[in-house]
Amino acid sequence: MKLFDVYPLFDIEPVKGTGNYIFDKDGNRYLDLYGGHAVISIGHGHPHYVEKISNQVNMLGFYSNSVQNPLQQELADKLGALSGCDKYELFLCNSGAEANENALKLASFKTGKTKVISFKKAFHGRTSAAVNVTDKSSIQAPINKLFKKEFHKFNQLKSVKKSLEKGDVCAVIVEGIQGIGGIHVANKAFLEGLSKLCKKHKAILILDEIQSGFGRSGHFFSFQHTKIKPDIISMAKGMGNGFPVGGILINPKVFKAAYGLLGTTFGGNHLACAATTAVLDVLKADNLIENAKEVGDYFLAEAKKIEGVKEVRGMGLMIGIDMGFPIKELRKEMLFQRRIFTGSSSDPNVMRLLPPLGLTKREVDVFIKAFSKVLANHDKGATIIDHID
Ligand SMILES: Cc1ncc(COP(=O)(O)O)c(C=O)c1O
Repeated sequence: MKLFDVYPLFDIEPVKGTGNYIFDKDGNRYLDLYGGHAVISIGHGHPHYVEKISNQVNMLGFYSNSVQNPLQQELADKLGALSGCDKYELFLCNSGAEANENALKLASFKTGKTKVISFKKAFHGRTSAAVNVTDKSSIQAPINKLFKKEFHKFNQLKSVKKSLEKGDVCAVIVEGIQGIGGIHVANKAFLEGLSKLCKKHKAILILDEIQSGFGRSGHFFSFQHTKIKPDIISMAKGMGNGFPVGGILINPKVFKAAYGLLGTTFGGNHLACAATTAVLDVLKADNLIENAKEVGDYFLAEAKKIEGVKEVRGMGLMIGIDMGFPIKELRKEMLFQRRIFTGSSSDPNVMRLLPPLGLTKREVDVFIKAFSKVLANHDKGATIIDHID
């Protein structure tokens, strides 16, 4: 059977991973500054993670959500304690798109409305409602475009305020740090303004922390550089370190749980809980959130010194290097000549760096040296690459 061909692929076959490195089938080692697209949070093959998942699958891999599963409560308790969001309630699902789908659904249940405010360059997933509020019409099928949405300028409040004043908005959905859009950090005044406006006009504020959450920004959630308390926070990616897990944190002052309101077959299953609990254990024990802040600050400062770089943006270990010209060839050269994985974005000029959170300053230096050398030899006539979400 032929595979449905949806991604352009690099000719590399990783077979093993340890810490911040992956190894291909020929035994070549690569520094992973892409984290499998922001998914690898605690590093590849962490012994605690491997042990927890292995023990769990030996005991019980799955049973349905119709019976007691204390692993979900253990996860919720650890997540509440580490994130500081212990007053929220947790609903577990399997992916980022599914998290946003449930978030938007709850918002619509609550308000009885359907119009959603989103932002230019936003990415929220590929399922029905999530893709409708994603700023890329080419990935929206007619069936996805069933409710009204608006894309406002990121980090600007004026037009959002005007729209909310009409009183017909169900939700505002925003990434704490736009990832696929090319690494744009939502600033404090913007997030605080959105929070105030949503409260005033009774719209639900959904913070999409799917890429920027679980410690990547140097905070547990990137919005925590402000004092806002979103109505819903969506999570996935780093949450399972590769195991497919997603979830939403729900403010119980805004939403009252009821049987049948949300549901899932696989969400919160035993193996997924073991994976996420292991991630939380390691984030805490290895001080990975503090490390993401310290090494991230160092990375940002060092990247800004590279000659020829137009702009460096980001927070913690979620970094965008804007070259002012397409980076397709640079990424290839980094991968095949220097054996360093990097990411792209929907902006062809921006290289995205999303490494495991245990990255060291020495590994940052390796990147800086390699990138400077590649840049020095580079011919600027590169063309645009299709990005992988
Ligand atoms: C900010 C953001 N939201 C949602 C998603 C969708 O997540 P998933 O691919 O797990 O459905 C992504 C994926 O890249 C994302 O970056």
